[in-house]
Amino acid sequence: MSKVAKATQASLVGNLNPVPGVKKVDPILIADGVTKRYGGLQAIDVAHVEIPRNAIVALIGPNGAGKTTLFNILTGFETADSGSWSYDGKALNGKAPHLLPKLGMVRTFQLTKVLGLLTVMENMKLAALKQTGERLLASFFPFLWSRQDRALELEATDILRRFKLLEKQADFAAGLSGGQRKLLEMARALMTHPKLIMLDEPMAGVNPALTESLLDHIKNLKQEGMTVLFVEHDVAMVREISDWVIVMAEGKIVAEGLPDQVLKDPAVIDAYLGSHQDSDLGLATGRITLPTGTKSTRSGK
Ligand SMILES: Nc1ncnc2c1ncn2[C@@H]1O[C@H](COP(=O)(O)OP(=O)(O)O)[C@@H](O)[C@H]1O
Ligand SMILES: [Mg+2]
Repeated sequence: MSKVAKATQASLVGNLNPVPGVKKVDPILIADGVTKRYGGLQAIDVAHVEIPRNAIVALIGPNGAGKTTLFNILTGFETADSGSWSYDGKALNGKAPHLLPKLGMVRTFQLTKVLGLLTVMENMKLAALKQTGERLLASFFPFLWSRQDRALELEATDILRRFKLLEKQADFAAGLSGGQRKLLEMARALMTHPKLIMLDEPMAGVNPALTESLLDHIKNLKQEGMTVLFVEHDVAMVREISDWVIVMAEGKIVAEGLPDQVLKDPAVIDAYLGSHQDSDLGLATGRITLPTGTKSTRSGK
């Protein structure tokens, strides 16, 4: 392990061996004994997991592993059969999803939920207004309201520019491409000033020309002090930006650790590839293309 990798590991988990569920030096999110069953399917069975603060943490695993369901449970969009979880020391069980941004925890969706019949700018401002609780009193005093509105607009303008969406600010969100809607959803999440941002496949469907800047945005979020937990299929991207990787398969956390180590872990390769262990892990995601003439041992995602 390189010196840098050793230092990162020490700052996140001390000097322990990173087994699944390993304790972190300073966790921002902790989940315990979380289970969820859909009919005969045990979708989630997470004994213990901790998300280290101010790190970029990737949650990876094959389709159907339970990544989105775990996000849904932790953010109150789905109920668990059992378990407890807390954010920044506060128990979250039973908290309605709309209360979480007020605490500093915000998530985006694999399938975006931007409001199509509002403009891009309106989507941005609404996210922030929901956060402040749309102060009823202020609405009777337009001068107060318009000052707040202008401040929001300035902030939204700045974020939209960073996401290369500023020229779309007056367009209906419904008219954006799938990738642009993903960017808008992330931009909108930032309007709530989160401490923890959870991104469910933020890169999926985003134009490759934009993915590089999206990676930079994510790195910047960490520079600004945020914790980023993101679901991603592309192993090359995971390797490039994450400080820590958590792997799920069949509802369980099967491995976690530094990206370079975890992506070599036989349990991880097995989770992705089943019997095709001779293939490069990057191929399993379908995003790393082979030189022409070679053939992947696996088709689809
Ligand atoms: N609302 C639901 N009803 C029934 N089964 C579901 C529901 N949501 C998810 N599942 C199932 O739970 C498993 C985990 O799904 P999901 O969390 O979406 O996986 P991932 O995001 O890792 O691809 C899958 O087998 C999926 O079909
Ligand atoms: Mg998913």
